[in-house]
Amino acid sequence: MYDFTTLRPRRGMGAEKWAELERQGVSDPEVIPFSVADMDLLCAPEITAALREAVDFGVYGYTVAEDGFRSALAGWMARRHGWEIRPEWLVSTFGVVHAILQAVYAFTKPGEAVIYQSPAYPPFRSVPGAAGRKLYANPLRRSDGCWEMDFDGLEALCARPESKLLLLCSPHNPTGRVWTGEELSRVADICRRHGVLVFSDEIHADFVFAPHRHSVFARFEERCIVAVSASKTFNLAGLSTASILIPDRELRRRFRDAGTAHTGFFNNYFGLAAARAAYEHGEAWLDALVVHLRGNYEYAVDFLSKKFPSVKVAPQEGTYLLWADFSCLGLTPEEQERFLREDALVFTDEGYLFGPEGSGFERLVLACPRYHLQKALERLDAAAGRRNLPR
Ligand SMILES: Cc1ncc(COP(=O)(O)O)c(C=O)c1O
Repeated sequence: MYDFTTLRPRRGMGAEKWAELERQGVSDPEVIPFSVADMDLLCAPEITAALREAVDFGVYGYTVAEDGFRSALAGWMARRHGWEIRPEWLVSTFGVVHAILQAVYAFTKPGEAVIYQSPAYPPFRSVPGAAGRKLYANPLRRSDGCWEMDFDGLEALCARPESKLLLLCSPHNPTGRVWTGEELSRVADICRRHGVLVFSDEIHADFVFAPHRHSVFARFEERCIVAVSASKTFNLAGLSTASILIPDRELRRRFRDAGTAHTGFFNNYFGLAAARAAYEHGEAWLDALVVHLRGNYEYAVDFLSKKFPSVKVAPQEGTYLLWADFSCLGLTPEEQERFLREDALVFTDEGYLFGPEGSGFERLVLACPRYHLQKALERLDAAAGRRNLPR
C-alpha cells in the first residue's frame, strides 16, 4: 500500500548525503549513497498532505509547539513506548545535536567531563570538546560479534569527580544494539550513585525489531533528558525539529535557559506541522516501513554471507543501519574507503568516523528502495572479484 520503491534522486538539491556523489561526478542512476542517516524513500503521504496544507495557509511566522503538537507527541510516546508524558515536559529544539550542545552548556562547566560510549555517532565525540569540556570514552566491548557495555569502565569514569554528564545512544548508532531493560537499569544505577546526569538520545527508538523492545531511559531514572524526533522516524531531517523531554522542572529550566536565555526561541513552522501529522497519522506507514527495512537488512545479510562470508555483520536489533566489519578484505582504512568509493561506487560511512573501535567497519543506511541496495552489493561483489580481495 505504501511506496518504498520510488527513488527521488537528490543530486543538486543540497542533500548532504548526495554531496560526495556530486563531487565525484557520479551520474549513474543506479548509484545512490548509503552514508548520512536519512532515507532515500518518499515520506508518508499523510505528512506530505499536512505540509501542503501548511504551505497553502500562506503565513509562516514565528512558531512554537502548541497544545495540539504536545498532545500528538504524548499520544505517540504512550502508544509506541508506553511512556506517559506531560505536555510541559517538552522543550522543542532545532535538532537533537543542538540539544546535546545545549545540555553540555546547561549541565557542565568548562573543565568538567562528558562521558560517551564508543563507537559513537560522531557529534557525541565532537560537541563536548568544542564546548571546552573534557571527553571520556568508555568503549563498548565486542563479544561474539555483538556489542556490549563495559559497566566496570563506566563506573570508573562516573566515579571521577569531574564527570557530570553521560551521552547515551539508545538504540545505538552505529552498532544497531537495542539496550535491554537490565542494561539500562545498570546504567541508571551507576549514574545515580555518582551524580552523573544522563542525556538519552532515543532518536532511533521507532526502529526496533522483534523480539527486541526499546525502553525509554526515564523508566529507570526520571531525572534525565530524553531526546526523540520525528525527523529520523519519518524522514523529516530537513525540517529541523526535535523534541526534548525533561520531566524534572529544575533540569528543564536549566536546559531551556542554556539555549534561549538571551535569544528567545521559536520552532520551525513546517517541522512542527509535519511532526504533528506524523504522530497523529503516521503509524500505519511506519509499521510498513519497518517491514521494508527489515527486508533490506535480511537481503544484505544473505548476500554478504554468500559472497563475503568473512565479513561480520552486527546483529541488527534496531535502527536502519547495517554495521559490518570488512577488515577481512585486508586493506587499510584509507584503502578500504577508496576501494568502496572508487572501485565499487558504494558510498558508506567509514567505521573510523565513529571512533577507533570502528576501524575496518562500514556503516550503511538501509533506508532506500531494495533495488538500489541490490545494485550496490552487486557492484561490491564485482569490484572485490576484479581486485581478487580475500573475503
Ligand atoms: C544518534 C543520533 N542522534 C542525533 C542525530 C541527528 O539528530 P538531529 O538531526 O535532530 O540533530 C542522528 C542522526 O543520524 C543520530 O543518529
